[in-house]
Amino acid sequence: MSTENIYILGIESSCDDTSASVICNGKVLSNVVANQEVHAKYGGVVPELASRAHQQNIVPVVQQAIEQAGITKHNLNAIAFTRGPGLMGSLLVGTSFAKSLALGLNIPLIDVNHMQAHILAHFIDEKGSKIPPFPFVCLTISGGHTQIVKITNHFEMEILGETIDDAVGEAFDKSAKILGLPYPGGPLIDKYAQLGNPKAFKFTKPKVGNLEFSFSGLKTGILYFVQRNVKENPNFIKENLNDICASIQYTIIEILMDKLKNTVKQTGIKHIAIAGGVSANSEIRKRLTLAEKHWGWTTYIPKFEYTTDNAAMISIAGYLKFLNNDYSDISVTAKARLKVTE
Ligand code: KG4
Ligand code: ZN
Repeated sequence: MSTENIYILGIESSCDDTSASVICNGKVLSNVVANQEVHAKYGGVVPELASRAHQQNIVPVVQQAIEQAGITKHNLNAIAFTRGPGLMGSLLVGTSFAKSLALGLNIPLIDVNHMQAHILAHFIDEKGSKIPPFPFVCLTISGGHTQIVKITNHFEMEILGETIDDAVGEAFDKSAKILGLPYPGGPLIDKYAQLGNPKAFKFTKPKVGNLEFSFSGLKTGILYFVQRNVKENPNFIKENLNDICASIQYTIIEILMDKLKNTVKQTGIKHIAIAGGVSANSEIRKRLTLAEKHWGWTTYIPKFEYTTDNAAMISIAGYLKFLNNDYSDISVTAKARLKVTE
């Protein structure tokens, strides 16, 4: 076995975070993320502003990632980048930059599927974290996706179920918007929910297929509930914010846990991972930890920094592809729509 150090630079620019990371043999040496504050006042990501901010951030972010890793760009073995899915203007910045750097350094270029990378973050070699064995199931919950994926091998994935409308992150963010909270509202709902009563208000869970999700009805239900109550008491939101957030979060997490229970029943697989931005949620993390004790599952919960969009997950996916000699041609193009199985 070779003892050579393999350094991979990963670049992520699919949405509103510009990120770069260097990993060595699966261990993270740096993971720099520049968030884009510019979107908060618009209540959501503005694609045109996102690509402009990526243009401004990409050079300093990559430079910082290489410096923090304690190497120079000449030590790099390959450049991995997010090909999609995501916002086209954002993806183009990372894609073009990665191509130029790989050409300039004369090293392999590796395209990475962002959704696969969220899942593959579980293979980062990190003290104290468990690596899931194959096959395992991953609940990928982000601002754009809600999927149950069966992983048979690093790059062999099958979607067992997904949302038929909104993603779970959207359910959090849109609920937060209804409550007058800034974007992204998911982390704020989580924060206020910790001080509230999850049973204070009851919201209806959707009736869809066993492994399917739907969040658009819940969002409408929350909107009508808030409008009705504000009409009677203009201070309703202010006076009940913690309880409303706790009740919304409780309903969403119940839906997710129900689906995971159905998945275990249907597949017999008890190795359950979560991935994506919403896996930062404290309640889903708590409930999954309890599931180990109560239901005999083995659960895999990513470290916080690998939940929301980050380049370490792109680097690890790139490293796994590098080991397979799975490189990209320089003519590769960004793809706004890309399934986790592609
Ligand atoms: O994976 P991600 O960073 O970007 C996408 O690929 O979409 O996920 C972002 C989503 C947002 O909807 C955000 O509100 C949500 O993750 N999120 C959370 C929490 N932290 C981030 N939702 C609930 N609780 C949290 N603590
Ligand atoms: Zn993501």
